[in-house]
Amino acid sequence: MRTEIEKLFQETIRQIQSVKTSSDLQALYFSVLGRKGKFAQLLSRLPNLPPGERAGLGTLANQTRNKLQQAFDQAKLKFKPQAADSADFDPTWPGILPEVGHTHPISAFIESAIKFFSGLGYEVAEGPEVEYSRYNFDLLNIPPNHPSRDLWDTYYLKNSGPQMLLRTQTSPVQIRYMEKHRPPVFIIAPGRTYRHEATDAGHETTFTQIEALAIDKNLKLTDLLGTLSAFFQHFFGNVKIRFRPHYYPFVEPGLDLDMACLLCHGKGCPVCKYSGWLEMLGAGMVHPKVLKNMKVAPNRYSGFAFGIGVERLVMLLYGITDIRLFLAGDLRFLEQFT
Ligand code: DAH
Repeated sequence: MRTEIEKLFQETIRQIQSVKTSSDLQALYFSVLGRKGKFAQLLSRLPNLPPGERAGLGTLANQTRNKLQQAFDQAKLKFKPQAADSADFDPTWPGILPEVGHTHPISAFIESAIKFFSGLGYEVAEGPEVEYSRYNFDLLNIPPNHPSRDLWDTYYLKNSGPQMLLRTQTSPVQIRYMEKHRPPVFIIAPGRTYRHEATDAGHETTFTQIEALAIDKNLKLTDLLGTLSAFFQHFFGNVKIRFRPHYYPFVEPGLDLDMACLLCHGKGCPVCKYSGWLEMLGAGMVHPKVLKNMKVAPNRYSGFAFGIGVERLVMLLYGITDIRLFLAGDLRFLEQFT
């Protein structure tokens, strides 16, 4: 009996090694270790043996069965379960973890900006990325000879002449929204914008802005300044900001907002070009001509607007030094923002 057990063991091990498919392995398993397999048949003779011969055989049988079980388990790993052969499917095997995507850092920032401005009562508006020159320039009081309209700055659509373009700013959404709405109006319009730029660490042809437009009775410059201060406090804490007059054709007065450089705290460094300040956005009180283009009476209503450059802001938030990383699709960069 002892030799029979050992023989069955050796033989089975040899067979396991030469098995070619998962189902052959399974068949072998049942023929040896199955309920009515060779092993069970051998053991069924155990009670009939004389007590002298029986001694130690139980232990040997158990050890052999365990060793065979291990050999089968090992061999099973060689064969991947195939969906087509349901006999091979083992639901206890660990699954393959699916790769789950996550929000792009620019989208994540837009989401948190929307949350912030919703708290102030703003709604979200959208406009097309392929835009008419009328909305992108004319109705915003940007004259035909303005340098930004140049063929070298703006992507015009082939065959449309100067009529259609990829929007260079989110400001046209102001005009579009006011075609269908009346004051009071408080909106933000996040989205992609395009400019014919030579790209480098600080410039991209495709970037993101968040436009804001507020029109109501008695809106003043201080309302604009307060809104922008609250925004910067929310995202950057107690950082210093300053307002500086700047000309934009669609606002009067117009201004730029600078933030104290986060890296050198105003002392001056290469990032802020040794000025201690970083230009963050353009803003102003909506120009009376633009209000008229929106069919809003400038003597009854006033408004403010601003346009935030999103990439710039996110770069400062996270210490990102090259704007081109946002659209490069490099997972080593993107996966840092899960
Ligand atoms: N559209 C401007 C740009 O892309 C930014 C801007 C400036 C938007 C002033 C505004 C504003 O709404 O009032 O450079």
